[in-house]
Amino acid sequence: MSVLIAPSILSADFAALGSAIAAAERGGADLIHVDVMDGHFVPNITIGPPVVKSIRRVATVPLDVHLMIEEPDRYLEAFADAGAAMMSVHVEVLRHLHRTVHAIKALGIKAGVVLNPSTPVVAISEMAADVDYILVMSVNPGFGGQTFIPHSQSKVREVRAILDRAGNPAPVEIDGGIDLHNVADVVTAGARIIVAGSAIFHAPDPETATRDLKAAARAAAAPSAVPR
Ligand code: DX5
Ligand code: ZN
Repeated sequence: MSVLIAPSILSADFAALGSAIAAAERGGADLIHVDVMDGHFVPNITIGPPVVKSIRRVATVPLDVHLMIEEPDRYLEAFADAGAAMMSVHVEVLRHLHRTVHAIKALGIKAGVVLNPSTPVVAISEMAADVDYILVMSVNPGFGGQTFIPHSQSKVREVRAILDRAGNPAPVEIDGGIDLHNVADVVTAGARIIVAGSAIFHAPDPETATRDLKAAARAAAAPSAVPR
């Protein structure tokens, strides 16, 4: 699969989400990444289903909803109804991850599982055949604009290997501190969905920033650039 760019609106102006999304889409955004935070699992509070529903009306690409909340099972249906195309849940909060992943799929939505920086990759090994994608957090979740944790690159490689062993071509997504300087490294490690918030929406021109990030990611994914 080619590399997909998923601008995170967390770093956009919440009073002008429509124009922020339109700019990212003009720059080639493949998905819009929506960060849902509850003030419990992470220290920050962001948005809920009504805002996702409004975003759905203006976005022309699928919504990738990242649930950073304590009890995701209670809200899966609400985010599905609001228009999520992909929904990811954190392994750290789920006792019955298999049940949750299949509940997301039963809603007709792609199901992703997220690993915090301190969570070992083995946490998803029993789910490797079931997931539609795995999201590797390359910062501690909660805020945009943090610094990429270098170990995340080898973690992407390990997650890719676990998925490959399970015969699952599901993509690895990476989220946190991604910019023009490190995107090639994470793509080379195997990441195929690239989330970027501040690198896009804090740039002078989010359209150009999206285009440039996508070009750099795709160049790194080209077969000649991937070491065998
Ligand atoms: C962090 C969020 C990220 C965030 C990334 O908890 O999950 O999606 O928006 O922002 P940057 O790209 O600025 O690190
Ligand atoms: Zn996110």
